[in-house]
Parts: sequence; C-alpha cells; structure tokens
Amino acid sequence: MHQTTILSAVLASALCSRAAQIPFFAADSGLLADCSSQCSSPATKNDSWNLNVKPSVNTTGHLVFDTVSSLLQHWPNTRYRNGHNIVPGIVPVGTLLYHGRGDSNLPTIPEWTATDPEHSYIFCRGSSEAGCWHLTLVAARPLRVLYFDGSSAAKMKDDPMDTQDIVGWGEVLPERYFEERIRAVDLCNWGKPLGIDGYARMEMDFEIVLCDFTAGVEVVSMANLASQGRGGPGGPSGPGGPGRPRPSDVSGLSDSVFTNGPFETTAGGFDVIHSGSWHNRYPGDRRIKLDLTQLVSFYDTALVPSLVPCRLNLECWDHRLLGITPADVAAVMARLTQAYTSPLQPGSGIDWDTLFKVIVDRYEDRFEMVQYVLNSTSGNVLATAKNTMSLFRVMLQPYILHAAVPAGSDNAWAAPVFKFCATSHTEYIRRSPSLFNKLTPSEELLLNAVEETNREICRVVVRTWVQGVAVGLDDALPVDSSTHPNGEALVGRWKADIEHHHNQFIRCMWAVHG
Ligand SMILES: *[C@@H]1O[C@H](CO)[C@@H](O)[C@H](O)[C@H]1NC(C)=O
Ligand SMILES: *[C@@H]1O[C@H](CO)[C@@H](O)[C@H](O)[C@H]1NC(C)=O
Ligand SMILES: *[C@@H]1O[C@H](CO)[C@@H](O)[C@H](O)[C@H]1NC(C)=O
Repeated sequence: MHQTTILSAVLASALCSRAAQIPFFAADSGLLADCSSQCSSPATKNDSWNLNVKPSVNTTGHLVFDTVSSLLQHWPNTRYRNGHNIVPGIVPVGTLLYHGRGDSNLPTIPEWTATDPEHSYIFCRGSSEAGCWHLTLVAARPLRVLYFDGSSAAKMKDDPMDTQDIVGWGEVLPERYFEERIRAVDLCNWGKPLGIDGYARMEMDFEIVLCDFTAGVEVVSMANLASQGRGGPGGPSGPGGPGRPRPSDVSGLSDSVFTNGPFETTAGGFDVIHSGSWHNRYPGDRRIKLDLTQLVSFYDTALVPSLVPCRLNLECWDHRLLGITPADVAAVMARLTQAYTSPLQPGSGIDWDTLFKVIVDRYEDRFEMVQYVLNSTSGNVLATAKNTMSLFRVMLQPYILHAAVPAGSDNAWAAPVFKFCATSHTEYIRRSPSLFNKLTPSEELLLNAVEETNREICRVVVRTWVQGVAVGLDDALPVDSSTHPNGEALVGRWKADIEHHHNQFIRCMWAVHG
C-alpha cells in the first residue's frame, strides 16, 4: 500500500512534468483510471458540522472562487498568471477597439486589437515624416468572444499560454509559446464554425485577437497619427497590433515593457501600464461581458480529474495544465463547444459575479484586520485577544443564534452557528428545485465554489471564536468565572491557526484583492 502510494506520487510527478509531452504517457489513460473515480467526487457535500474537520487537500472550490472573483481584473491575473478559466462572452455593440500599425491597410488575417488606445498606440509605427496608422473599430453587433484568464497574452514559455494551447492545438505545447500568428489563425479556425469573432486576453492591458476585421465591426477611423518618430517594425508585413511577437523571450511584463520593447524610451511603455491599471480591481475591464453560466474551469475536478495529482503540494502560483489527459481535453472541448452551439439551459438568473463579490467584501478586509490585531506588539496580550474576539463577533453576528450557548467541553454547541454561517448565502439555491434544476454545469461549479469557500471561512472563524468564548472573552456569552484566560497561549494559538489557514487555504484568494 505504502509502495503504491510512493509509486503513484512518482508517476504523478512524471506525468505533470514535461514528460507528459511524450505521447506514451499522455495516451495511456489507464494509468490515471484510479484518479478519475477518486477525484470526480470532491468531498464537499459532507453535512457533518464538525468544526475540526478540514477540507480535503485536493479541494479546488477556493481556487475556482478566487479565479472567478478575479476575472478581467489586471492585478490578480498578473500576480497569478497561469490561467485556469475559459469563458464565453460578448463585446457589446458600440464598443471601440483599437489597432496600431505602420500602414493604412485593414488587416485581412487575424490580428490584435486593444481595448485601450494606450496599448495599440505602441504599435503605431512609422517615420516622423509619414506618421503612423491607428485604426479605430466599433462593434456593429455584439461580438462573440472567448476569454482566457491569467496573463494569457504574456507569451511566456512556462505557463500562461496553456489554456490557449488546449483550445487551439488540443495539447499543451510549451515550445510553441511564441508562435503567435499560428496560434491566432488556429484559434480562429477552430472557433469559426462556432461563430466566435475573437479571443480576449491580457498582458499589460486587455486585448482581443480579432479573427475578421470585416465581420461584425465597422471602421470608425483609420487615422494617420504623429508617430513620435518611431520607425522600425510594424510596417505592412509586421503584425502591428497588441500581442505583436517580440524577438526575445519575455521574462516578465514590466521587463518586456521597460527593457525589451521598442518603446523603452517613449512614454508609451508607461501609458499602457497605466491604462492596464484602470482594470486592476473589480469589476475589471467591463468592455468584455462574460457569461459565467458557460464558464469552463480547469480547476473543475469533475471535468478535469487528471490535473488533481499534478497540483498536489504545489503553490497555486505553480498550477498549470501539463499532465492533462486527452480524455479530459476532449471533455473540456465538448463543454466549450456546447456553450456556443446549444447551451443547455439559459441558466438560473443568479448573479454569480455579485454573489462572489458579496462574500469577498464580507471577509477580506476583516481577515487582514484579524492578522493585524494579532500581530500587535503592545504587550497586553489579553487586550489583543479581546480585540480579536470583537472582530470575530462582528463577522459572525448574523449567524450567532440565540439558542447557541456554550455547553459541554468541546465546541459542538457552536455547530448550528457554523452551519448557519456556511450555508446562509446559498442554502436557498439548493432548497429550491425550480432554481437548482436550472443551474448549468458551470453554475453548479460556481455554487460549489461559494459553498466550499464560505464553509471553510466560517469553520475557522467559528472555531477560533469558540475558543475565546470558552475562556470568557465574549462579554455577551459569559462563562463560569473560575476560568482564567491565558492570553499568551490564546493569541499564540490563534496566530498560528490563522496563519496556517491562510497558507493552506486562502493565500491564493486574499493575497490578490483589497
Ligand atoms: C463527514 O465527516 C465526518 C467527520 O469527519 C465523518 O465522520 C463522516 O463519515 C463524513 N460523512 C460523509 C458522508 O463523508
Ligand atoms: C489527493 O489526490 C491525490 C492524487 O490524485 C491522491 O493520491 C490522494 O489520495 C488525494 N487525497 C485525498 C484526501 O483525497
Ligand atoms: C503579521 O506578521 C507576520 C509575521 O511577522 C507578517 O508576515 C504579516 O504580514 C503581518 N500581517 C499583518 C496584517 O500585519
């Protein structure tokens, strides 16, 4: 048994490395058969409200929660650049898109457009005598797009292109990371029968790879702009748009802008970082409207079980798609195709985007504040413990039932508080068949993500609060006065617990917001 465990761990690490590129491994789905049965039923529907039971190490609800909460926002997708979501969406009629180039021709092949002209102007290149060309397009109808989250236009060898590789080429091909032209053509060819007009991505700012510059868009202007004297590439043969391939490897976004681009000494490099930063936080770049009811996530362990062993013991920073099996690629592509051809249901109507934001708002700052208070070096540990307790009480106020009073020697008396806290945002959805039955598979994933995330937040807060109640630190719930709180021990324990919780579970979440 022990041997088997070691073997499967070794096997898993081989599969998830570049060895996965060897067809022998990738094709042998038998090797992963064990995992599919094991991973396709994530241990989330446990109705036991035991405050001491932690989530499974393979759970991904918080990762779905975090990445979905970060969609179209520049900062979280810069910090965690390996995308895991592909989401159908539209660019509404009337939206402007920009494209810079060295000539006045309209592209006849897939090229890059920017949502902000600060981005496209970088590619407006020409001599100071002739000027350069800057095209403004307008969406004449809603454009159908597919959004790749993460730093999906960063053209880095080791990660952010994985999801596009899967869609365009059917497998992760890291060595082709810079084949931008072929990538654009192949993505557009794949999406053509589905009516996809373009692909939304992010590097210094958001951009859309537009498949056909005559379909669904009209020319607003093809302006001959002052070029700031930048000649060089970007002429008739150059790509001339956002995402234009650069000659050497790109090791980081800011590096590429400040040391590796043709614009290192111009104002353009700063301007595009600045315009990108307008979309740093919620709600992100709103010119792309996503349809979360059709979202596909590679963190969906039911849809993509083969990646579960690949993530084991890895920082979320390092999660990627190497090691995905052909069967899982097929499942992802089937789901994605269906989203465009015959959406299963219109969806429930639930505003998931807002629900996720509500939960982030309720806990994000407060968790940071708890850590800040616990870090206090005032010396009066009992005061620190009391201050922390008041923060816990504020978080739990809507869930502390009148009937829940300390009893017994363990924390079981607080189980109803835990349950109420954990289920309050979503219980109605599960309870109402008319709503629940309308959920698309993507919405079920979102529901699960909210439930798992909320549950773990509530578990940690309630469990910690109960420890304070037990030693009389909550004035509203007095206990036997013979107990004397050991402030030192309590604060030490809470610090360790919250920090552990942070490292194990929410680091990927809260690190990027706020
Ligand atoms: C739920 O968790 C409890 C506590 O660990 C465990 O005893 C019980 O078997 C679990 N139930 C299910 C259905 O997994
Ligand atoms: C987590 O996933 C690994 C790899 O698939 C598996 O070996 C392990 O048993 C799983 N752990 C739990 C608790 O489900
Ligand atoms: C608390 O202290 C830890 C360790 O010194 C530090 O890493 C963390 O950033 C601090 N947190 C806050 C909110 O001050």
